[in-house]
Amino acid sequence: MRTAFLVLGLGISIVGCTNSQTSDNQSSVVDSTAVDSATVSAPKKDSLSVYLPDIKASLPEAQTVEVKDDPVFSKIKSYKAVSLVTVLDQFLPAYKSLNIKETQIVFECEDGYNPSMSLEKVLSKKAFIAISDVDAPKGEEWVNPKKGDHEMKIAPFYVIYTDVPAQDVSFKWPYNLVKISLSAASKELAVLFPKEDDTQVKGFELFKVNCLTCHSLNKVGGKMGPELNYPKSVTEYWQVDQIKQFVKAPASFRNECKMPAVTHLTDKELDEIVNYLKYMAKHKV
Ligand code: HEC
Repeated sequence: MRTAFLVLGLGISIVGCTNSQTSDNQSSVVDSTAVDSATVSAPKKDSLSVYLPDIKASLPEAQTVEVKDDPVFSKIKSYKAVSLVTVLDQFLPAYKSLNIKETQIVFECEDGYNPSMSLEKVLSKKAFIAISDVDAPKGEEWVNPKKGDHEMKIAPFYVIYTDVPAQDVSFKWPYNLVKISLSAASKELAVLFPKEDDTQVKGFELFKVNCLTCHSLNKVGGKMGPELNYPKSVTEYWQVDQIKQFVKAPASFRNECKMPAVTHLTDKELDEIVNYLKYMAKHKV
């Protein structure tokens, strides 16, 4: 386990991937075709994926792309990058036959951070996969920004946009990226949808956007943070009112806590999330 934990005080929208990776997490993101499937993170038959380090040498020539307001570096940046559409065209051409409204693009990072977005949404903007930083010192590909004492690892790939404002938290900018997968949104999330109580839909949506990138429920979701529902729901072993406090200020509960403070949600929204977690406690796999 590496000891360099990233602590952010800026809200989770710009977190991207942290470098608190373990060797276990690393092995879970290797190409499913390269190893026995038992070690691969939840392989899904209906998903298509590309392990980026394997295709690096065959990527088309990168162009220089300027990002006016980079949310990870908080300044103007320039990268050598290849457009995401080009990568999909060449390495996941089957995406064209999918219904983009019902497809999620899942970004897998080395440390287990797995943000996903609607493919339609990503394709509506100018998204690129950055392969190196123009400002990197000679002989190096990346500049690793520091957050506090900790150096973030941007390599090997970083998803950027030229037409998305840094404040738009609905777009993900994952760095330390290794794999891109496409999966049927409805199937993947079906197990988490509150079918039996439509008052929980808001909480589900909020959880999906703000928490699922790092936490799984019923084994579906990110792996950077702990599973929150199975076998025991966090609402069963925590005092429920403390969960909200924790989410707002994890560092006030745990020293060197690896969860960044979630500061952009209202109390009401956090209540919706906690109520949804209580609902899910009654709907385990
Ligand atoms: C960037 C990743 C990330 C995001 C986003 C995130 N968490 Fe976490 N969370 C973590 C990590 C990592 C831990 C483990 C913290 C530790 O112990 O150092 C954690 C721990 C927790 C715990 C404590 C669980 C336990 O049993 O100890 C709760 C509860 C929790 N998160 C809820 C949430 C909720 C609710 C959201 C969304 C509003 C959220 N988290 C968003 C990474 C994240």
